[in-house]
Amino acid sequence: MTTIMYDQYNRKIDYLRISLTDRCNLHCRYCQPEVSEHVPHNEILRYEELLRICRAALQLGIRKFKITGGEPLLRKGCSDFIASLKQTEGVEQVTLTTNGTLLSRQLPALIAAGVDSINVSLDTLNEAYYKELTGGSLGSVLQSLQELQAAEIPFKLNCVPLAENGFADIMALLQLADKYNAPLRFIELMPLDCNANLQGLSGSEIRTILAQAGLKLQPDAQRYGNGPASYWRIGGYAMPVGFIEPLHNKFCAVCNRVRLTSVGMLKPCLYSDDGIDLKHLLRDSISDADLLQTMQKIIYAKPDGHRFEVQAARFNMSQIGG
Ligand code: GTP
Ligand code: 5AD
Repeated sequence: MTTIMYDQYNRKIDYLRISLTDRCNLHCRYCQPEVSEHVPHNEILRYEELLRICRAALQLGIRKFKITGGEPLLRKGCSDFIASLKQTEGVEQVTLTTNGTLLSRQLPALIAAGVDSINVSLDTLNEAYYKELTGGSLGSVLQSLQELQAAEIPFKLNCVPLAENGFADIMALLQLADKYNAPLRFIELMPLDCNANLQGLSGSEIRTILAQAGLKLQPDAQRYGNGPASYWRIGGYAMPVGFIEPLHNKFCAVCNRVRLTSVGMLKPCLYSDDGIDLKHLLRDSISDADLLQTMQKIIYAKPDGHRFEVQAARFNMSQIGG
């Protein structure tokens, strides 16, 4: 019999986001401050600890796993971990979200591991602005997109649109996504203490721009992934465009996910400080039965929603994995 887990608000929870590391080789201004402290390696969950938590999650009804960071590909052994997870009974999907800068070299191993799809963060096609926004180089990301396409791995693009960048990039990103047959998603800026000086663009602002450029937009009922994006078809383009709007189109009522941070906090909601420190329980030799019960309790108590509209969050997104 397959277990299904519902939380206190009757939401089905079947998706776990796992942050493998809080480290990132980029410093996107909307995600983390330019200088941030990192946790020492022994504070990070070991792969065998992660797999133990995943096996417990599977028993609770979680079937889909998203690997995140920081930048997950910075952690040695990422593709071996994905391979082990994919081989674990009951796992339906393992997907990865990456900034794409380290992907080229690791793609063959990720494919061999069986990764189901990959999301690549790409906020701009303007090389100078990419450098300014992220601290990295755009060329490595573009190279990895070509390789993803050649390898026929399904992938999507993530863009956090900012007012400072204006609208110039939006059409260019749309064309690139279409060329690569990759859904492009615009993610509304989530306010963090570290990004208070930035202003995001809402989904409706972007849709207005597209409409003003003469494009016809129609809602698309199909889903492309397991996440909170709602999709639209754009006249003249084969690929849909997704909008993830935590503030202007709050999706908490249908949230299906919980998170595991790299230091082992199981967090029932991206925003909330609630959570339980599984690492210490594991290292204090908790039994399988108690682990299961502890996880079930915290997932059941998942809050009704985030509070980004009330107060910016104090964490860096790289600690949570987005
Ligand atoms: P797939 O469609 O299955 O690939 O999942 P996804 O879109 O959730 O994955 P991805 O890791 O690419 O996340 C895209 C954006 O959605 C990121 O900015 C995340 O922070 C945001 N996001 C994902 N889950 C949540 C959530 O539960 N709450 C909020 N507020 N944002 C989320
Ligand atoms: N608001 C919205 N999205 C964010 N991401 C990181 N920080 C933020 C933020 N403050 C996105 C990244 C990545 C995804 C996992 O989270 O661009 O694509």
